[in-house]
Amino acid sequence: MREDLLAQARGCAELGSPMYAELLTRAADDPGGAVAGVLGERAEPGSVLRMLGTVHRLVLEGRVPDLAAHYPTAGGTKDPLAAWPAFREVLVGHAAEIREGLADPPQTNEVGRAAPLVGGLLSVAAATGLPIRLLEIGASAGLNLRADHFRLRHGSGVYGPESPVVLENAWRGLPPVEAPLAVAERLGCDPSPLDPTAPEAQRLLLSYVWPDQTARAERLRAAFEVAARVPATVVRAGAADFLEDLAPEPGVATVVWHSTMWAYLSEEEAARLLRHLERAGAAATGDAPVAHLSFEGRDPSRLDATQLVTLRLWPDGGRMVLGEGPAHGLPITWSRPPAT
Ligand SMILES: C[S@@+](CC[C@H](N)C(=O)[O-])C[C@H]1O[C@@H](n2cnc3c(N)ncnc32)[C@H](O)[C@@H]1O
Repeated sequence: MREDLLAQARGCAELGSPMYAELLTRAADDPGGAVAGVLGERAEPGSVLRMLGTVHRLVLEGRVPDLAAHYPTAGGTKDPLAAWPAFREVLVGHAAEIREGLADPPQTNEVGRAAPLVGGLLSVAAATGLPIRLLEIGASAGLNLRADHFRLRHGSGVYGPESPVVLENAWRGLPPVEAPLAVAERLGCDPSPLDPTAPEAQRLLLSYVWPDQTARAERLRAAFEVAARVPATVVRAGAADFLEDLAPEPGVATVVWHSTMWAYLSEEEAARLLRHLERAGAAATGDAPVAHLSFEGRDPSRLDATQLVTLRLWPDGGRMVLGEGPAHGLPITWSRPPAT
């Protein structure tokens, strides 16, 4: 248990959460074993993440004010690195409820991944001149189905409308920003879809943001505002079933998009999904193109710290690597010159 927790503390330190690194280090050295009281004998990565998320949810619900005082995401102003005594109290006082929370799968929706999405859509728009029919698989709460309503800053420039969501340092190099980008339809799927306008779902998404990563939490809250005024639908379905009847539509570019979800697919589902895409691609025409746009690891079947923006566009069907960036999406370095 001690070694598991220390290894995960190092992971949090490397990935930018000094607060969680400190909490897990203190937990590893806790003679009373408050974490063991919740997790049992082993601190598996998944269960530690769920424990931290469940405690964060209690914080966001306003139920543990002494601990909330250390959580920047809850407006806390006390030192996040001094949260351990209050954190430990919560583990002991809410052990049964936290143990129950371990059964819920974590759910995240990273708004920073709008940076690869918008750039990829611009490439499709530049190549086809058509409005976009946007289909997202593994859409979670569907926040990025509204990506064209976000503002992206890059160097000294800016792309996109005025928006509560402002993505700083979104791009290095540029996608084809002159292309006219219009989204005609926004539809997604997820086996566990969340309604981004529901307070409970909002808290669930926020609870899996690390509490000292306030920029990410701010992006998320801003995206909830956008979601309240820009409709999009996310249906409850796995990716392959969702794309079963995928077909091109005249007058729009049909774009199937996904980010950081391929690793969750079984081999069988991934193969089925690719067959649906190939079949729709084979039926594509110049006036009814089909695109497969993704932001996934170099080996998409594994989660990776660096991800590639790739595009296949039919009728031609060629695959291009458009850019790459950290898994949270910011910044994307574009590897191709703007299409003309
Ligand atoms: C790490 S989250 C990423 C969510 C979102 N794509 C993003 O980039 O913010 C992975 C998502 O994949 C979804 N997922 C898991 N299995 C899936 C499947 N078989 N088909 C579609 N989505 C799936 C999960 O429910 C979750 O919403």
